[in-house]
Amino acid sequence: MRGQAKANTNIALIKYWGKRQKELNLPVTDSLSVTLDGLSTSVEAVFDKAAVHDSLRINGAIVEGAALQRLTQWLDGFRQAHQVKEFCLVNTQSNIPISAGLASSASSYAAIAGACLRAVAGDVSSENISRWARRGSGSASRSVFGGLVVWQAGEAADGSDSYATPLGAGEGIVVVAAVVSDKPKSISSREGMNRTVETSPLYPGWATTVSRDMAAARAAIKAGDLKLLFEVAEHNAFAMHATALAARPAVRYLQAGSFAIIDEVKRLRSEGALAYVTMDAGPNVKVLTTSDYADVVMERLTPISKKLFRCGVGEGLT
Ligand code: PMV
Repeated sequence: MRGQAKANTNIALIKYWGKRQKELNLPVTDSLSVTLDGLSTSVEAVFDKAAVHDSLRINGAIVEGAALQRLTQWLDGFRQAHQVKEFCLVNTQSNIPISAGLASSASSYAAIAGACLRAVAGDVSSENISRWARRGSGSASRSVFGGLVVWQAGEAADGSDSYATPLGAGEGIVVVAAVVSDKPKSISSREGMNRTVETSPLYPGWATTVSRDMAAARAAIKAGDLKLLFEVAEHNAFAMHATALAARPAVRYLQAGSFAIIDEVKRLRSEGALAYVTMDAGPNVKVLTTSDYADVVMERLTPISKKLFRCGVGEGLT
């Protein structure tokens, strides 16, 4: 039994930060993202009668340790749900630069879920792929679709209503990722969000912030108002980082270099450019802009960034 799939990565405009159930990656709130063009992972999954354990190959190299353990755990749930006994050989090829702060797990688990469901001829609807992708990495649920995507938190205990749906084309959006540090992040998103939920006195306000920001973002998308959408996204990113900073001990991702980029983007804006920032569980900064301003953003950030990546809006799983 063999299946293949390819998925792009995505960047959250309204962040997923906190789980209501850890095992199934069920989130506390909805989230919103834009799928990025050209930064993708292709996966082939083979459930093989002859295999004596699961195996993971990333860009040609056999990978063991935590990444394999996480995959095996995901596969155990998948096998149980689909009455499959065979171990699985998962071969992934990704062109996502490791240092760019662009999560590869989002595209990887979207493509793994797609490849495995195609292999066992299960329910290969996008909705179902999104549910299985979510169990590997929450943000992966959104990479099943192109353009602007909402992952609805859902309410069901089994996660059946917690999957993503497309919300619009996101036409004209350009994301410039500015690399501040290429060192591995000190606190994983999983650990960072769990600690925030458990210890941050600001966390109760997070759900209120997200529902307000989601409503504003939906209205901005409906009106085709990218400036308003980016402004809401920037506010939401700072709110996420503030919530995390108040955890004990603090969950701190932004560094001096991050603020240098943030300040420069603010300066560009005061000069009339349409450019806002968003940051995830790491120090790198993603600039939300349009093709009219992407060149000037690149030019101004080059001297203060280690590297820059420019992406348009990407399509969903293929
Ligand atoms: O899907 P995870 O577990 O890698 O968490 C993603 C967390 C953020 O990137 C910070 C926010 C998001 O919604 O993608």
